[in-house]
Amino acid sequence: MGCYPVFWRKKNSRSQVVQLDQDIPIAGNVKIYSSKELRKATGNFCPGSKLGQGSFGRVYLGKLNNGEKVAIKVLSSESRQGTKEFLNELSVISNITHHNLVKLHGCCIDGGQKMLVYNYVENNSLAQTLFGNSRSGIRFDWRTRVEICVGVADGLTYLHEEVRPPIVHRDIKASNILLDRNLRPKIADFGLAKFFPGNMTHISTRVAGTLGYLAPEYAIRGQLTKKADVYSFGVLLLEIVSGRCHTDPTLPLDEQFLLEKVWTLSESDDLESIIDGTMERDFDTEEARRLLKIGLLCTQDSPKIRPSMSMVAKMLKGECDVSEKIMRPSLITDVMDLKVRTVEPIQFSLSPSMSPALSSSLVSTLALAGSTVVESR
Ligand SMILES: Nc1ncnc2c1ncn2[C@@H]1O[C@H](COP(=O)(O)OP(=O)(O)OP(=O)(O)O)[C@@H](O)[C@H]1O
Ligand SMILES: [Mg+2]
Repeated sequence: MGCYPVFWRKKNSRSQVVQLDQDIPIAGNVKIYSSKELRKATGNFCPGSKLGQGSFGRVYLGKLNNGEKVAIKVLSSESRQGTKEFLNELSVISNITHHNLVKLHGCCIDGGQKMLVYNYVENNSLAQTLFGNSRSGIRFDWRTRVEICVGVADGLTYLHEEVRPPIVHRDIKASNILLDRNLRPKIADFGLAKFFPGNMTHISTRVAGTLGYLAPEYAIRGQLTKKADVYSFGVLLLEIVSGRCHTDPTLPLDEQFLLEKVWTLSESDDLESIIDGTMERDFDTEEARRLLKIGLLCTQDSPKIRPSMSMVAKMLKGECDVSEKIMRPSLITDVMDLKVRTVEPIQFSLSPSMSPALSSSLVSTLALAGSTVVESR
């Protein structure tokens, strides 16, 4: 891939070369920025230039000296977790390039402050477009949605099947898909990504990811395979077609969990009724039904039954048939040991009025929040 490990050294203000406490394998094309440069680019990180806020810090819009716009992720200094994610993200994405992955320009470490500098992606995140309070004014038509699904599938196929060693993203969700000026998708946020050695059936790891998108075998047993990303992609696919978030607590109980709802509609052969009404019937019904079925296939209980991402991409493009043998999407009965990183503690208690089938399902438990789970056990 034309990259090489380097020891990252940084000059301090007295121009002495200082060795950082971590040796970070980054590609030669990743620029090291000074904090002064990035402060200037963002008007001293003024609130007006803030693009968003995630679990590990804030993201600002910056304009570099050469006029180029960038997005600068400032990791919260007190977060130990953030440092790990920072180093991880550097080592993973400095080495890879694909038109459906966000591009890393460079980084900055200044004392306790760590920043990542990315290409600015003009149209915010898919979450904002799909579920934002003030829908962005973007005309989110059917063809655009299909192309976004295909783009994300291509990006994941690249990570899983073309990069060596393969990479599992672990946090595929609507807020981690950014849309460029032509509404082409860019997968972002590689802080949780893991290299996946080719000779392994799975790797056992601490659970990390986001509630509502976590594959059950991974959430419960910590068994990570590429199929955990396939599961998250399946949930995302259902969200894109329906225009609904994986969980909507404002709906009646039996309607709240998208995956459960789509399965029920599939059983009663009424998948059309979940397609996003804002498109005012301006969509291809057969294609939408196919995408929903692919979403269900991706969320099957057994990771082995879930298709690979290259197969998903082919199905999305209509290059191969979608299996009609679809079973109920996976269920989870016990997620009580998950510790969740949120501002407000999440309660996992289930409503007594919930049906037994629903209360035992993944969607009725894990989908209670969209926060990033950082650790379990
Ligand atoms: N390269 C970028 N270009 C434009 N906007 C960006 C870019 N990267 C991030 N953003 C914006 O900043 C927001 C916060 O991103 P961040 O990845 O930190 O958090 P998140 O995805 O919302 O949550 P989480 O921490 O759970 O991943 C995004 O939702 C997006 O709106
Ligand atoms: Mg994110």
